[in-house]
Parts: sequence; C-alpha cells; structure tokens
Amino acid sequence: MTKIGIVTGNMYFVLNLICSWFFEFFNFEFKLMFIASLYNLKGGVGKTASCVNMTYMAAKDGFRTLLWDLDPQGAATYYYKAHATNKSSLKKVIEHDISIHDAIHHTEFDNLDILPADNSARKLDILLDAQQGTKKYFRNLLKDVTSIYDFVFIDCPPGFSNVADNIFIASDAVLMPVIPTTLSMRTYEQVKKYLEEKEIGVEKLMCFFTMADTRKNMHTDTMQHLYKDKRFFSHYIPYLSDIEKMGIKNAPLEVFAASSYANTCYRALWTEIKEGILE
Ligand SMILES: Nc1ncnc2c1ncn2[C@@H]1O[C@H](COP(=O)(O)OP(=O)(O)OP(=O)(O)O)[C@@H](O)[C@H]1O
Ligand SMILES: [Mg+2]
Repeated sequence: MTKIGIVTGNMYFVLNLICSWFFEFFNFEFKLMFIASLYNLKGGVGKTASCVNMTYMAAKDGFRTLLWDLDPQGAATYYYKAHATNKSSLKKVIEHDISIHDAIHHTEFDNLDILPADNSARKLDILLDAQQGTKKYFRNLLKDVTSIYDFVFIDCPPGFSNVADNIFIASDAVLMPVIPTTLSMRTYEQVKKYLEEKEIGVEKLMCFFTMADTRKNMHTDTMQHLYKDKRFFSHYIPYLSDIEKMGIKNAPLEVFAASSYANTCYRALWTEIKEGILE
C-alpha cells in the first residue's frame, strides 16, 4: 500500500468518526458507509469468489463489513458457512415484518457480518414490484445500517432486472469482474449502455479482469484493448486452481492459502480498489 493510500484512508475514517458523532449528536443522517456490488450481466465470471475474498480482506483491514448475499444460489453464504435462521428472512425484511438488523448474522471473523441468502431471494423481483416498484428500495433499506458498517458488499445474481436496478442505485461502486474474452467485451458494452440509458451513472462502473490467462492471445489482446477505457483496475486475477478450492475449503483464500499467488493477486487488487475508493 502506498503512503498516500494509508494517509488518505486514515483521514477518511477519522473524518467519518468525527462527522458521525457530530451528526448523531444533532440528529442528522450522515452517510459515509460505502456500498459496493459485485455484478456482471454474465454468470460464472468470479463475482462470488471476488466478493468473498474482498469482504474478508476489508474486515481484516479493520473495516466494519457486511456481505449481503442477494444471489438465490447462496454461494457466498455457503463459503462463509452461514445460513439464514428463517427461510424467508429476506421477504420479511422487504415487507417490513422484521428489521434488517434481525436478518444479519455474525461470521466467525471479526468485523465481518453477513445477510445470508434464503429461498425468498428467488422471488425478489416480485417482492420488490409489490413495494410500489421503487428503484430506491435497497438504498433506503441500507440506511438503517449506515452507522454500523464502513463497507457493504452485495453479491449479485447475473442479469438485468428490477433487482439489478435497485442494486445499481444503492451502490457507490459497481465492481464488475470481466473474463478477457471477445464475448465479455460485448457484455461490458451492454452493461455500460444500460447504466447510461437508465441514467444510473456509468461512473459507478469499475471493472477488473478475472480468470485471465496471459498465455492466450485473445486474453492479452482483450485486456490491452479494454485497459484503454480507463475503467479497469490494473491488477487482475488470473485463472488459478486455488480459487476453485474455496468451494472445498468453505473459506476465503487468505484463511487456507494465505501465501498463495492467488491470494497475493486478490490482496493487490483489493488494495488498489480500496485506495481508489478512499481517495
Ligand atoms: N480466478 C479464478 N480462477 C479459477 N477459477 C475461478 C476463478 N474465479 C472463480 N473461479 C471458479 O469459477 C466458478 C464460478 O465462480 P463464481 O461462483 O465466483 O462466479 P459468479 O460470477 O459468482 O457465478 P454466478 O453468476 O453463477 O453467481 C467457481 O467454481 C469458482 O471457484
Ligand atoms: Mg455468484
């Protein structure tokens, strides 16, 4: 991490603390919690693997972190050995039957909580439609945890939907893992166009390469081409079998393969993202 990064990061959180006290004292709402969603229109690109590693690293760096697993597949929930206590927790949160605080669980790691996926996430679009279809629903919901967390990471299902719109609007950054192939370039353009057309703010879109194989010309050519767009972090995640092992170990990389190259790559990427966010 650069000295500038450390100083900027420390200043940010001292400022956050002072402002929170000040605004709490005078009963104002104050938001410095950062919401990042791991999103791609495409499935199987490393959203969940990245979300799990980044949340772990953020928490280990001392940031109060929440992972919200909004993918009905519940892979992030599985990696953290968590499970919802109630089959329809999410439905109850959306319908205001329980508060968001009641659905959040601690993980075995310091500073790291999870809002696990449950079966009701499958019908999320319908549940949101029933709430007058507002696109700001998640954003408003997360206001309740503003003073509790520094970072919220949302693990998203793939695709465009009302759920995706809600996530985009709630997010300060849409972190998009991209496999450097020709087809992914098309998907990347589709997501950019969607955010522009919906006036969500394409500036939120921050991308990084995953599953990169620099022995393949197609991968290096695509990376060179897309780096010109200035929307990609310079650090990337190669295709590495240690990342696949997360599913067997049920844990983030740093827990079972701290000295692996895969973990080094995720550390470097997370440091770059964190410094980019906090600057
Ligand atoms: N850099 C990588 N190298 C090798 N395997 C990877 C890498 N990143 C992810 N994987 C593996 O690829 C598969 C898909 O990854 P992951 O579940 O993170 O993708 P996803 O985008 O969340 O998928 P979905 O859209 O289904 O939610 C998993 O088996 C995961 O272990
Ligand atoms: Mg996933």
